[in-house]
Amino acid sequence: MKAHRLILLGPPGAGKGTQSERLVKALSVPQISTGDLLRGARNAGTELGNQAKVYMDTGALVPDELVLALVEERLAAPDAARGYILDGFPRNEAQAEALTARKVELERVVNLVVSDELLVDRLSGRRICRKCGASYHVAFRPTAHEGVCDVCGGEVYQRPDDAAGVIAQRLEVYREQTAPLVAYYEKAGILRTVAGHGEMDEVFERIVEALEL
Ligand code: AP5
Repeated sequence: MKAHRLILLGPPGAGKGTQSERLVKALSVPQISTGDLLRGARNAGTELGNQAKVYMDTGALVPDELVLALVEERLAAPDAARGYILDGFPRNEAQAEALTARKVELERVVNLVVSDELLVDRLSGRRICRKCGASYHVAFRPTAHEGVCDVCGGEVYQRPDDAAGVIAQRLEVYREQTAPLVAYYEKAGILRTVAGHGEMDEVFERIVEALEL
């Protein structure tokens, strides 16, 4: 069976996590989200998690050496041998070079494009379950009961970096440090650009088409 190795690229709120969920089901490969790995380390109170917290809460990128150590460990896990969906990694040219140096064959990079106005709407309305990590949106994907996770009954909260001031900073960091990766992967001939507006299922259909799945 073909090992699907994909990257979902796009600004904060583009729908990388939302679409990864669907791709995981369709392709039977794990999602590897550096944001989730870092939040997990933070919640577990590890030294790395404590170091990462200050960067994450202000919308800055966590230093490469910390992120690369986490990614190396995760990519070495047995389930990653049959492929993966990278969500939120790489985030700058140094991280892309580190991935390229592993000499694994990446199938495609999906670049999700969404207007800034819609990104702000999505991020400011996002809510996350503290217990199982399920993702909601107050308008676009509300929980059945306010503040309570539909999946596990856990408390649903707003990520500290989804506060208005931090969103602006994250978008700026994206433009400066991550957006140049569009040209990086275009040059490598594996980039596919997909419009990220519209219904979640509609965006997924566009991704499936772009990937020729
Ligand atoms: P991370 O967790 O990766 O956050 P991000 O890239 O900012 O991306 P988001 O999770 O905010 O957005 P998303 O594109 O996944 O959108 P989602 O699907 O949730 O990173 C957080 C922080 O960790 C960074 O700022 C940094 O500090 C650090 N970090 C992480 N990786 C790093 C790295 N590699 N190097 C250094 N630092 C790193 O959707 C958003 C909302 O919109 C949801 O509520 C969803 O329900 C809704 N939505 C999605 N699609 C649709 C749709 N089509 N219609 C309606 N609503 C929709």
